[in-house]
Amino acid sequence: MNIRIFNSQEDLNEAAADLIGGLVLRNPSAVLGLATGGTPVGIYASLVRRCAAGIVRFRDVTTFNLDEYVGLPKNHPESYFSYMRKHLFDAVDARPERCHLPDGSAADIAAECARYDGLLAQAGRIDLQLLGIGHNGHIGFNEPDHALLSGTHVVELKPSTREANARFFDSPEQVPTHAITMGIGSILKAQSILLVARGADKAEIMQRALYGPITTDCPASLLQTHADLHVYVDTAAGRLLNV
Ligand code: GLP
Repeated sequence: MNIRIFNSQEDLNEAAADLIGGLVLRNPSAVLGLATGGTPVGIYASLVRRCAAGIVRFRDVTTFNLDEYVGLPKNHPESYFSYMRKHLFDAVDARPERCHLPDGSAADIAAECARYDGLLAQAGRIDLQLLGIGHNGHIGFNEPDHALLSGTHVVELKPSTREANARFFDSPEQVPTHAITMGIGSILKAQSILLVARGADKAEIMQRALYGPITTDCPASLLQTHADLHVYVDTAAGRLLNV
């Protein structure tokens, strides 16, 4: 496990963009696993700047997002599809047909999960998976539970997760109750994983995830079993970590 603690959010963003951008430079047709939430926004902004400066190109990159809300139309401002277009896809030279997200507005959600797993299987392997972490240890939208699923599936969001994400909506009731998420098996299959977190409110869960027991009660704790895990945090989120 490679843990790095940064003094500023900017330094974290640049280091994460170095890792992702460096991979794309070495392998222009890399397969990236992408995440949403507040933490990756600055990382994507750095990648956008690098692309505008001609340092990195996304034309041949394939991407898979971790998750999407169920029931939001794709073009809803808070759908993860809209988030990705706004923060990355529309601002770089990525090809839309290579940028995949689960479709939370699909009429047949089970078929949509199977379609997404089919696309992942076709891609073979994710080279680098970017991950954030929820306060309860969720990764993607894999919420703590007595069992976790390997493939793409529907989850009911925990009240605390809906509460945490309410800041993006006009009112808490508008936060969808369900989401489609890539499963833990697909996440752990990635060749490399970059877990990012910032802020004092993430310090305890980061400690539990990295040093606590490996348990489905804290889905991020399964990352301890991964052979190439990189953890980038700011000083506040990394307060309880040993480096
Ligand atoms: C959402 C996403 C997760 C993300 C989490 C943390 O729940 N589904 O993938 O890791 O938010 O987000 P933030 O970075 O805003 O704390």
